[in-house]
Amino acid sequence: MEPKTVHSVFFSPTGTSRAIALATSRGMGGKTEALLDMTCKAPEPPPFSKKDVVVVGMPVYGGRLPQAAVERFQSLEGKGAPAVAVVVYGNRAYEDALAELCDLCTAQGFKVVSAAAFVGQHSFSSKELPIAHGRPDGRDLGRAEQFGIQAKELLGNNRFLDLEKVPGDRPYKPAMSPSVAATATDPEICSQCGACAESCPVQCIEMESGMPQTWQDRCIWCMACVQRCPTGARKIVLPKIYESAKHLHTHCQPRKEPEIFPALQTALFDTQSEK
Ligand SMILES: Cc1cc2nc3c(=O)[nH]c(=O)nc-3n(C[C@H](O)[C@H](O)[C@H](O)COP(=O)(O)O)c2cc1C
Repeated sequence: MEPKTVHSVFFSPTGTSRAIALATSRGMGGKTEALLDMTCKAPEPPPFSKKDVVVVGMPVYGGRLPQAAVERFQSLEGKGAPAVAVVVYGNRAYEDALAELCDLCTAQGFKVVSAAAFVGQHSFSSKELPIAHGRPDGRDLGRAEQFGIQAKELLGNNRFLDLEKVPGDRPYKPAMSPSVAATATDPEICSQCGACAESCPVQCIEMESGMPQTWQDRCIWCMACVQRCPTGARKIVLPKIYESAKHLHTHCQPRKEPEIFPALQTALFDTQSEK
């Protein structure tokens, strides 16, 4: 079946889940494409139908999905539309996040065709302490496109995923619950452009008399504000995050590769590339 519209639905504070979702959607083809960016606000739900396909991309936070992403996705009604579920993690582990995303899609009325965990640059990565820096790279994006091509084939054969095959425990591990802001602004360097406030998925930064003020209890530690700040004024100030980055930098160096369910039929792609 050629999907009518391929919808890329994502929550992606630092852009890696977005990149993988879009590459997967490219592989799926489809007559038209649509973007549903849930990063900073709840989406306007389009009327999905069984003829559409939805590629859902979310990051992994503490081996689970970010609560804000889950809540926004819960405003969608699948109405039986096929879904391709993708989580993106920072080269440590994705634990229960992929199982959680597959369950979430099913609970919202989508039918999961295939699922995958890809690696993206860790949100806590920096020049000083790189963690999966620069990922997804060309190889990851190529795999995501192949994953999309295979998902389209599975859909054409009316095959859906056996969710028991997706790794993860049920009940899931407890979710992270940050209760203090991880970042703050250095007033000496801040240009007062407001990019940090604009990029915050949970609106925990407000511009007051030109300077960013951060609500302590809303921050989800996503690092979008640090990444988006053009002058480097937005910084990690929570020692716990710096310690975690040091630990991850030391212990999560070996490159992990995407995991795809059902496994990517590489033979199929090798044959195609020889033609
Ligand atoms: C609060 C928080 C918790 C995270 N927890 C994990 C984790 O458990 N395992 C992991 O490998 N990466 C973890 N990461 C890294 C992100 O999953 C990774 O950087 C992802 O690519 C970010 O997606 P985005 O670019 O779409 O925001 C975490 C990142 C943040 C901000």
